[in-house]
Amino acid sequence: MRWWQCRLAAAVALLAAVLALGAAGPRSPAPLRFAPGGRFKLALFADLHYGENAWTDWGPAQDDASDRVMAAVLDAENPDFVVYLGDLVTANNVPVANASLYWDRAISPARRRGVPWSTVFGNHDDMPFEWPPEWFSPAGVPPVHCPPAASAMPEPDPGCIFRGTPRVELMTAELDRACGLSRSSVGPRELWPGVSNYVLQVLSHEKPHDPALLMYFLDSGGGSYPEVVSCAQVTWFHSQSRFLNPDGRIPELVFWHVPSTAYVKVAPKATSEVRKPCVGSLNEEDVAPQVAEWGMMDALAHRPSVKAIFVGHNHGLDWCCPYEKLWLCFARHTGHGGYGDWPRGARIVEVAEKKHFSVNSWIRMENGSTHSHVTLSSARFS
Ligand SMILES: *[C@@H]1O[C@H](CO)[C@@H](O)[C@H](O)[C@H]1NC(C)=O
Ligand SMILES: *[C@@H]1O[C@H](CO)[C@@H](O)[C@H](O)[C@H]1NC(C)=O
Repeated sequence: MRWWQCRLAAAVALLAAVLALGAAGPRSPAPLRFAPGGRFKLALFADLHYGENAWTDWGPAQDDASDRVMAAVLDAENPDFVVYLGDLVTANNVPVANASLYWDRAISPARRRGVPWSTVFGNHDDMPFEWPPEWFSPAGVPPVHCPPAASAMPEPDPGCIFRGTPRVELMTAELDRACGLSRSSVGPRELWPGVSNYVLQVLSHEKPHDPALLMYFLDSGGGSYPEVVSCAQVTWFHSQSRFLNPDGRIPELVFWHVPSTAYVKVAPKATSEVRKPCVGSLNEEDVAPQVAEWGMMDALAHRPSVKAIFVGHNHGLDWCCPYEKLWLCFARHTGHGGYGDWPRGARIVEVAEKKHFSVNSWIRMENGSTHSHVTLSSARFS
């Protein structure tokens, strides 16, 4: 279904509800729930980097290739949920304010299959446009067409604005076309300029009213502001986790884009083989961490309920390593955009709810193979 069709369907459904009941509020999306058998499977799509060099042949071809990676992973794994782990677009390559169209393309594979998803921002999603030096050669600036959105700009008509699309605009456009499937949100205003800060509960299959998993999504910055998880986000995390999980009974997973400095501490030496206790197949570069650590890692490490953190950002890394009592994991570069030509794939995370609670993860490649299986709920190696 195309987005306007689903909006039309939603409008008709809302109208029917109004006529039937005489009143209707906006319908909140159905809660996430463990599937029969007590399993909940996530696919992590990291660093898709849509929208590179749209004025060349290779840019659009690369976006087509990214479509195929996601389709292959979704067909093979049939996940219950998709996490878009940041850098959905390469905004520094998007000259006019149409990044939300690329964003929409990135989330369309999940939407088309009716799979709910959520997104976090990476450092490239709202980066300002970088003028290609070759546009100053005799060849000049290639023709660019302003999207209709540009006409809503303030007077006088500024023509095509060479600027990024702000985080809030990207998120609002996503929610507008979500068909009730997006679980993303524009987080609390007091955490701005960070936007993708929210918590999702996954309800138990066995006990329909009990949450059996909490997923925290955090904006790790980058682009329009520094790559960092702020002190305000740490305070927010404390209050959310105390409220939702006061006794730490519910297992928790955490998602953001840029690795924290703790990743540097546990990282296997770059380009060496990944050895136990770490598990992975790609170790081709140094960790590129956040610029500061303002306490989030301490907050997480002191909660035994937190099992793992998942990040993207480094395309040449796909390992998981233990840190204190939790695991620090990289996803796997999914998109054909962005640096590096390592084969593309996606990290899969499968949670089984208690009594037999477990978190298992592996990497599913575009060609159908899987590797790097690891159990993330096991006791810390020491
Ligand atoms: C965004 O605008 C550029 C420049 O006009 C164009 O080349 C590109 O195809 C547009 N992208 C989308 C997704 O519409
Ligand atoms: C799939 O790709 C991987 C590299 O990611 C390679 O090692 C493996 O042999 C390939 N498998 C098949 C079936 O082509």
